[in-house]
Amino acid sequence: MAFEQKIRELLEKREQAKLGGGVKRIDAQHQKGKLTARERIDLLLDEGSFEEFDMFVTHRCTEFGLDDKKYYSDGVITGFGTIDGRLIYVYSQDFTVFGGSLSMAYAEKICKIMDKALKVGAPVIGLNDSGGARIQEGVSSLAGYSEIFQRNINASGVVPQITGVFGPCAGGAVYSPALTDFIVMSKKNSYMFLTGPKVVKTVTGEVVTEDELGGAMTHATKSGVAHFVADTEQEGIMLIRKLLSYLPQNNLEDPPLAPCDDPVDRLEEDLNDIIPENPNKPYDVKDVIYSVVDYNEFLEVHRNYASNIVTGFARFNGVPVGIVANQPKYLAGVLDINASRKAARFVRFCDAFNMPIITLVDVPGFLPGTTQEYGGIILQGAKLLYAYGEATVPKITIILRKAYGGAYCVMSSKHLRGDINYAWPMAEIAVMGPKGATEILSHKEISAIEDELERTKFIIEKEKEYLEQFATPYTAAKFGYIDDVIEPRNTRFRIIRALQSLATKKDVNPPKKHSNIPL
Ligand code: HXC
Repeated sequence: MAFEQKIRELLEKREQAKLGGGVKRIDAQHQKGKLTARERIDLLLDEGSFEEFDMFVTHRCTEFGLDDKKYYSDGVITGFGTIDGRLIYVYSQDFTVFGGSLSMAYAEKICKIMDKALKVGAPVIGLNDSGGARIQEGVSSLAGYSEIFQRNINASGVVPQITGVFGPCAGGAVYSPALTDFIVMSKKNSYMFLTGPKVVKTVTGEVVTEDELGGAMTHATKSGVAHFVADTEQEGIMLIRKLLSYLPQNNLEDPPLAPCDDPVDRLEEDLNDIIPENPNKPYDVKDVIYSVVDYNEFLEVHRNYASNIVTGFARFNGVPVGIVANQPKYLAGVLDINASRKAARFVRFCDAFNMPIITLVDVPGFLPGTTQEYGGIILQGAKLLYAYGEATVPKITIILRKAYGGAYCVMSSKHLRGDINYAWPMAEIAVMGPKGATEILSHKEISAIEDELERTKFIIEKEKEYLEQFATPYTAAKFGYIDDVIEPRNTRFRIIRALQSLATKKDVNPPKKHSNIPL
């Protein structure tokens, strides 16, 4: 029967397509400890949910003898499927076909699913493993990349975009991941850089390994390019699934409510004692976070970067939120360039995708000094200020201890449209710490005292006076800048009540083409 023949032909073509660049190259991929593009998709999506597009696409290049070297799918697997029952679009680069390098046909496949994702309002996940621009295609490949970049930009703030990097990602190819919301890298086999070690050595003389230049830990700790690092690809893919569980499908939806039977009024007695008597002693703000969120579950973003500020996702009574918290355990929780950039980007993500922001404040101020000034802390700090001031999602702030100077203003203060601002009784809200303030306000009197003991006594007395006046939440509460002073152990309940009261919040910014954040 003719039709039987046609069906057999279809099945054969499918089998052939599934082999990508062939069994040998698949084996080589496995020998490196890597999964194939299809195995990655199988792991990522709900079982049996993948619908593939463009399996029979091949490249159109005739140069360099490529006209008789064609593989179905042309090095990238694309389509849609579900994660926990929710629609997502996915592309997965196939290193077994021309090293996963990008041709125009390949770029068109990615653009097709991105266009569809944008139309229906579904997240896009890209799994990268590629040698970059397909050299034989020349400028067509560069054009293909640029078409993808444009779609990344159009989709930014409309649907979540997440990238997994599980192999090479070099040259201009790095810019598509950089335009997405989150990058997950696996510790082994993955690297991202503009130019590899060989070119670096030729141009600058610097000798560096691939891993040092652009490995997962480099980007997680030094550049901040990677938001998450996973020990293995499998773990990285599971992390993408988990991350999506907090996010809405698009910017018109609320984040998905999860069932919750963790009691809303759970008291955390330990929080009443978590702040050390000595104001210069640190504690771990993550202990506060873990104890107040649903089931003590917190998905930290940028865990290894700018540890003086903590960012991540959690839920309160099932409602997904973004959490930003100064971390007294690192650099006393000071705001510096990296912390400001890290938190600003996170705040803007939350605002774009309707996620309430919970801010836990314990900050001695901005980090002073030439390194910071030369690095533009003025502009970098302004990014965070801008991000908070621009955000219209529910903003709930708890000042745990210190809120000094400009850092008080920046950290989601009432004056930047903070909706509900609470403080713990140990809060100190002032222009600066008692030492600095006493030095500035009383330096003439101090230098007039000749006896050293008397001078010290005077300074201590003045610092005490200052502390009594300003190092309390009540002065700010008197002005209405703090809505209430709350018992630390009751923080979870107060945050949940605040979120409930803000669930229907509506706020807008003045109409404009776009803002001009100090980049
Ligand atoms: C065409 C490529 C390719 C490429 C790899 N291959 N990269 N084919 N274009 N860019 C092919 C190889 O010829 C080989 O084919 C197969 O993929 C596997 O490559 P190997 O070198 O054998 O693998 P490995 O030793 O693991 O090395 C992987 C690699 C290396 C590190 C990625 O292939 C490499 O350095 N490739 C070039 C990377 C690069 O410079 N890309 C351009 C970056 S600039 P066979 O047939 O033997 O299996 C760029 C600009 C984008 O991307 C600009 C956007 C705006």
